[in-house]
Amino acid sequence: MADYVLAIDQGTTSSRAIIFDHSGRIISTGQLEHDQIFPRAGWVEHNPEQIWNNVREVVGLALTRANLTHTDLAAIGITNQRETAVVWDRTTGKPVYNAIVWQDTRTQAIVDELGGDVGADKYKSIVGLPLATYFSGPKIKWILDNVDGAREAAERGDLLFGNTDTWVLWNMTGGVEGGVHVTDVTNASRTMLMDLDTLSWREDIAADMGIPLSMLPEIRSSSEVYGQGRPRGMVPGVPIAGILGDQQAATFGQACFEVGTAKNTYGTGNFMLLNTGTEKVPSKNGLLTTVCYKIGDAPQVYALEGSIAVTGSLVQWLRDNLGLFTDAPDIEWLAGKVDDNGGAYFVPAFSGLFAPYWRPDARGALVGLTRYVNRNHIARAALEATAYQTREVMDAMNADSGVDLTELKVDGGMVANELLMQFQADQLGVDVVRPKVAETTALGAAYAAGIAVGFWNGEEDVTANWAEDKRWSPSMAEDERERLYRQWKKAVTKTFDWVD
Ligand code: G3P
Repeated sequence: MADYVLAIDQGTTSSRAIIFDHSGRIISTGQLEHDQIFPRAGWVEHNPEQIWNNVREVVGLALTRANLTHTDLAAIGITNQRETAVVWDRTTGKPVYNAIVWQDTRTQAIVDELGGDVGADKYKSIVGLPLATYFSGPKIKWILDNVDGAREAAERGDLLFGNTDTWVLWNMTGGVEGGVHVTDVTNASRTMLMDLDTLSWREDIAADMGIPLSMLPEIRSSSEVYGQGRPRGMVPGVPIAGILGDQQAATFGQACFEVGTAKNTYGTGNFMLLNTGTEKVPSKNGLLTTVCYKIGDAPQVYALEGSIAVTGSLVQWLRDNLGLFTDAPDIEWLAGKVDDNGGAYFVPAFSGLFAPYWRPDARGALVGLTRYVNRNHIARAALEATAYQTREVMDAMNADSGVDLTELKVDGGMVANELLMQFQADQLGVDVVRPKVAETTALGAAYAAGIAVGFWNGEEDVTANWAEDKRWSPSMAEDERERLYRQWKKAVTKTFDWVD
């Protein structure tokens, strides 16, 4: 058997291909960023064709850098930014509109109308999610309502919908020449259209949103062979055998298989997932109930999720929109020049506030300013914002599950930031633990694919390969910890009611 598994991580800011060996070690990587398109305030789009071209290129880069060819690959796994909606024509392979990204808030009016008198919780007991601009269903409706001829084409059966997992898979497996139109249960659980118990599309909710079922991909498990690379394509004949939404993939890659284990990924946003086992736990505290993974025919495992829209993207914003520094990691150096935030709090409610508030009317605020505050304090306030938001989500998780988390596994780009990780442990009051392979998202997708083809035996191999790199323990005095958090909570209230 071939010696490697390749994972494609189609993320919010970039697409990556990473090749892993049997021990879960990274052999090589290819990465390309794609354009972030902001046509209006609150709108965020990606060009699906640019994404597909980048995916092809990064797969080539990863193989070339490792001096390998597709024949060295036992399987390919796909992981992706979730919720981002692509609608394309099955006969031409062309998208009818740009991808509408998960952070985009243009569907607020659609969401309000769908909620009607019942409000945001209308479908929650079925799909696990509150009505919000975050999820795919209302984004599909927007495209059908606003792109000339789209609704008619959809009703004729000419249009297909997919998140970027499905878009990449369809193209990899043949596109207009018989591409496979499939997604996995984790991605489907973020559309607002899938029944969490039966794992099938809800005809009634799709009808409420005016979405023909013929557009929707077939829902499969997270680990099985969906198809092969197209005969004359970049990876001919290689089985594509794993799909997981990126946050679920990270949970899998972090070996959070026991009920009550959790991970937190620090990416564009932050996403904490707690494994609740085969039991679907409804949230009373602003969390989402979602599918965590389903390995082949085994029963699905659920998770509670706390989604925070803006964490790493605040660092990007300080870099790109304010020019506070040139390289994102420099924020740590800048923030480290001061001992505290100088009284400043930065609430990055750029897409409203997600968990645990779900306040679409919120907008970002920098408060507590005096003439004493300088750029170092602002850099620090931006990092602290990530930690406070994470604490809010963890408090909600402890309340929903009735059990307090005793440690938190972390991953993603910002976990290289030591200042943030220490402050995170201080705010949470529990240890924060980073694994040796911090690329857990790609790793999780690779494991799902490798398990499907027998390259790995199962979850026990994932657990055996997981190794701790570093641990941060809380060291802040309790009264200081609480004082800071109280101020943060006050700052959050200042962001409400900005959008009518
Ligand atoms: O739900 C959105 C999430 O999947 C995006 O993750 O890592 O691309 O920011 P990321």
